[in-house]
Amino acid sequence: MKVQLLTVKKASSQFQVGIYFASQGKDKKISIPGASKLTLNHALEAQKEHSFSAQKNETLFIRGANEAHFKHLLIVGLGPNKSINNEVLRSAAGQASKTLTAQKMGQAAVFLDSALVKTNDAGASTQALTEGYVLSSYTYDDYKTKPSKAPRLADLTFLSDKKGTPVSLKKGVQEGAVISECTNFAKWLGDTPGNLMTPEILANTTKSKFKGTAAKITVWDKARIKKERFGGLYGVSLGSSADPRFIIIEYNGAAKSKKPLVFVGKGLTFDCGGISIKPSTGMDEMKYDMCGGANVIGAMLAIAKLKLKVNVTAYIPSSENMPGSLATKPGDILTFRNGKTCHVDNTDAEGRLILADALAYASESKPAAIVDAATLTGAVLIALGNTHTGLMGRNSVMVKKVQSAANKSGEKVWQLPLDETHVSDMKGVFADLNNIGAGRFSGSSRAAAFLSHFVAEDIPWVHCDIAGTAWDTAGRLSYTQPKLATGSMVRTFVELAKGHK
Ligand code: BES
Ligand code: MN
Ligand code: ZN
Repeated sequence: MKVQLLTVKKASSQFQVGIYFASQGKDKKISIPGASKLTLNHALEAQKEHSFSAQKNETLFIRGANEAHFKHLLIVGLGPNKSINNEVLRSAAGQASKTLTAQKMGQAAVFLDSALVKTNDAGASTQALTEGYVLSSYTYDDYKTKPSKAPRLADLTFLSDKKGTPVSLKKGVQEGAVISECTNFAKWLGDTPGNLMTPEILANTTKSKFKGTAAKITVWDKARIKKERFGGLYGVSLGSSADPRFIIIEYNGAAKSKKPLVFVGKGLTFDCGGISIKPSTGMDEMKYDMCGGANVIGAMLAIAKLKLKVNVTAYIPSSENMPGSLATKPGDILTFRNGKTCHVDNTDAEGRLILADALAYASESKPAAIVDAATLTGAVLIALGNTHTGLMGRNSVMVKKVQSAANKSGEKVWQLPLDETHVSDMKGVFADLNNIGAGRFSGSSRAAAFLSHFVAEDIPWVHCDIAGTAWDTAGRLSYTQPKLATGSMVRTFVELAKGHK
């Protein structure tokens, strides 16, 4: 999608659609800053007829409005003036994009000043708007043999009269476009099915996608994984004829002496449960079990493209979980990178087994902090549904950092407990650890407690369980697609990297 920023003066030609944002003042009075009388009158007349009142994400499309700068007009509601924030803008932009798609409009101009009256950071607000449009424009139709020919939004111009379009707006458009294009790439990795996104393909796709950036990609194959004593990743991979991979992405935008921030992502390209096989209903969704890895890759791509002045390293353990004849069996014992052992009670609790080696390996170089993302437990869906990512950690300062980054990026997160009781729930009889706890209680916290055995105590670490937010969030957000991958935590991870000193 082409996205650019111009001053109204410089926009000589007429746009197919002009987009304005309308908000409600006192007594629900509609205002559209910067709009002509003609444009405002359309909204006011519609309000009289009860067909538009500038509520959040309400739209009014006027075909053939024919003003100087545009042919058709789209007015999008922001709701009450006092509740406008960047997420309201992101959401309104997502809705605008959906309306343009429904109207088969491929080109539009956004009258930016109508959206920026209530903000104290015009750059960040412009970034949020850009994200809304670009994220909303994502589709997955690679395997539709007759894709729709209807025009889709492909060319978007932001127009501003604010004193020759200041640098912050330009930066907002550029950063918003990069972050959301990279999020869309993460979504594409997630939506691509298991047969076409094996660990090997994930590694190769990552390598080629990072060409031209300053990031260095290293990939370990099965033999190297075994040699490096990654008993969890190796053990989980044994039931599949698709070999595992361990993907390392290193980006150094700051001095070598600065400790990196580390991301770890679960890259389980298909999870049928292994020998402890899952029921067949909904099993197809387990192609999304690599979304933690995909979203870490998306965030790293954005960080590299934005050339952030920070050091960040990512580790993605990637495997299938299948019940082949060599598969790890219930009762088997695995030995991880840090020497700890685990009795595998249930081969479907495999995410923690592949993450254990990655976290232990990440800890060896004493990074500044570790944040992982994983579709780890069904239990997080019971606790938090598909609205919030579950956060767990032992370091409250680090948890707060992730919460405030999420707050900035407009992603919903919620902390779940992780304490000594959960840690002791995971103690093993036959080995140091069991990979599941007894009974069905506190599944997400127990999974986090298992992971905590593999992160050195003095390293600030936060685990993000994205099992509820990584895909099929029921179209709750205007800028995500029902059923499809969402790229959850990509924006928050980029924000975290920005704040890393
Ligand atoms: N990938 C699943 C978790 C999952 C389930 C994600 C549903 C999204 C939707 C994970 O590997 C798994 O199977 N976890 C088990 C753990 C259990 C065996 C302790 C679960 O949550 O049921
Ligand atoms: Mn599983
Ligand atoms: Zn899994």
